[in-house]
Amino acid sequence: MLIGLFLFFLAGSSVHGAEFGYLPDNITVLEGESVTLRCRIDEEVTHKAWLNRSNILFTGTDKWSLDKRVTLVNSNNSDFSIHIDKVQVTDEGPYTCTFQANNKPRIAHVYLIVQVPARIVNISKNVSVNEGENVNLYCLAVGRPEPTVTWKDQKYGLVSEGEFLDITEIKRQQAEDYECITNNGVAPPDQRKVKVTVNYPPMITDMKNMPAHLGKTAILRCEAMAVPPASFEWYRDDHRPVESDNTLTIKNEKTRSLLLFSNVTEKHFGNYTCFASNRLGASNASMLLFRPGAIQGRGSGLHAGMSVGVCVWVSLSAAFLVKV
Ligand SMILES: *[C@@H]1O[C@H](CO)[C@@H](O)[C@H](O)[C@H]1NC(C)=O
Ligand SMILES: *[C@@H]1O[C@H](CO)[C@@H](O)[C@H](O)[C@H]1NC(C)=O
Ligand SMILES: *[C@@H]1O[C@H](CO)[C@@H](O)[C@H](O)[C@H]1NC(C)=O
Ligand SMILES: *[C@@H]1O[C@H](CO)[C@@H](O)[C@H](O)[C@H]1NC(C)=O
Ligand SMILES: *[C@@H]1O[C@H](CO)[C@@H](O)[C@H](O)[C@H]1NC(C)=O
Ligand SMILES: *[C@@H]1O[C@H](CO)[C@@H](O)[C@H](O)[C@H]1NC(C)=O
Ligand SMILES: *[C@@H]1O[C@H](CO)[C@@H](O)[C@H](O)[C@H]1NC(C)=O
Ligand SMILES: *[C@@H]1O[C@H](CO)[C@@H](O)[C@H](O)[C@H]1NC(C)=O
Repeated sequence: MLIGLFLFFLAGSSVHGAEFGYLPDNITVLEGESVTLRCRIDEEVTHKAWLNRSNILFTGTDKWSLDKRVTLVNSNNSDFSIHIDKVQVTDEGPYTCTFQANNKPRIAHVYLIVQVPARIVNISKNVSVNEGENVNLYCLAVGRPEPTVTWKDQKYGLVSEGEFLDITEIKRQQAEDYECITNNGVAPPDQRKVKVTVNYPPMITDMKNMPAHLGKTAILRCEAMAVPPASFEWYRDDHRPVESDNTLTIKNEKTRSLLLFSNVTEKHFGNYTCFASNRLGASNASMLLFRPGAIQGRGSGLHAGMSVGVCVWVSLSAAFLVKV
C-alpha cells in the first residue's frame, strides 16, 4: 500500500517539493555552482536508479557514470539523492529518479536549467575615424538565457538594440563613448565602453583685432577646434614667420596659440596671420594689432573674408603705417 510518496528537489538552499506524479519541476542553477537532486521515497523501495536523459547515473549505490562531479549523497529507505558539482551547461536537461515500490514502477522527473550570466565576449576596439566616414561597432555577448544587447550613446542617451551599431557619415559631435550593455536577468548587466574619436581639420573659432598702446602689454589670440589638436604658426603681413624674442612670446596651448607682447613698440603694429594645421588640413585667420583710433575693428578675417568695418580700418591703418 502506497502511504505517501514524495519527491523533493533541492537547489542550493531552497527546497522544491514536487508531489510524485505532478509535472516535473525546474531547478535553476548557475553554471559553476553545485546542485543536489533529491529524491525522497517514503516506503519500501527496490531497484532505485537515477538517470540523466536516458543514461544511467546510479542504480542503487552502484555508480554507472564516469563523471567525478556526480556523487550519491544519500541512499537509505527514505532518501535517494545525487549531487552534481560544478554544473556545466551540458548538464542541462531532464533527470529521472526511478524506482520500484510495491512492485510498481515509479518515475519522477526534474528538469535542470543551467544559467550563465550575460557577458560581453568580443567588442570593438576604441576607434579613430575621420569625419564623414562610417563607423561599425559590434558587441558580442553570451549567456543563458540568451542575453539582450543594447548600445547606448553616453552624450545623447540614445539607445540602439542589437549587437551592431552602425553610424553613417559620422559627425564631430558624435565623438564620444558608446556603451554596450548586455543583460539576461541572471546577474547584474555586463557593460563596456568604446571610445570613438572623430578627426577633423582645424577650424579657427576666435580671433579678434586688438588695440595696443606703446610701451604696454598686448595679446593676440588664435583659437582653433581640431582633432587631433592643431599645431600653430604665426606670420606677419609680409609672410615672415613670427618668432619669440625678448618682447614677444608665442605661447601654444592645446586649443589655442597666444602672441604675448610684453612692451608694444611701433614695429609690432600690423597684420598677423595665425595658421593652424593638423594632418587633416589647415586653416588660417588674420588679425591686426593696431593703435587705438576712432575705428576699433572687430576681427572677422577668418579665411579670406573680412568684415566691412575691418576693411575700412585697414585702409586707414595702411595709410597711417605708410606715414610712419
Ligand atoms: C520549466 O521551464 C520551462 C521552460 O523554461 C517552462 O516552459 C515550464 O513551464 C517550467 N516548468 C515549471 C514547472 O516551472
Ligand atoms: C536517510 O537519510 C536522511 C538524510 O541524511 C536522513 O535525514 C534520514 O533520517 C535517513 N533515513 C533513514 C531511514 O535512515
Ligand atoms: C548529462 O548528459 C549530458 C549529455 O549526454 C552530458 O553532456 C552531461 O555531462 C551529463 N551530466 C551529468 C551530470 O551527468
Ligand atoms: C570579434 O568579432 C569580430 C566581428 O564579428 C570578428 O571579426 C573577430 O574575429 C572577433 N574576434 C575574436 C577574438 O573572436
Ligand atoms: C578606450 O576608451 C576608454 C574610454 O575613453 C578608456 O577608458 C579605455 O582605456 C580605452 N581602451 C583602450 C584599449 O585604449
Ligand atoms: C619698452 O621699450 C622701450 C623702447 O625700447 C623702453 O624705453 C621702455 O623702457 C620699455 N618698457 C618696459 C616696461 O620695459
Ligand atoms: C588661408 O586661407 C585661405 C582661405 O581658406 C586660403 O585660400 C589660403 O591659401 C590660406 N593661406 C595659407 C597660407 O594657407
Ligand atoms: C592680413 O594678411 C592676410 C594674409 O597675408 C591677408 O589675406 C589679409 O587681407 C591681411 N589683412 C589686412 C587687414 O591687411
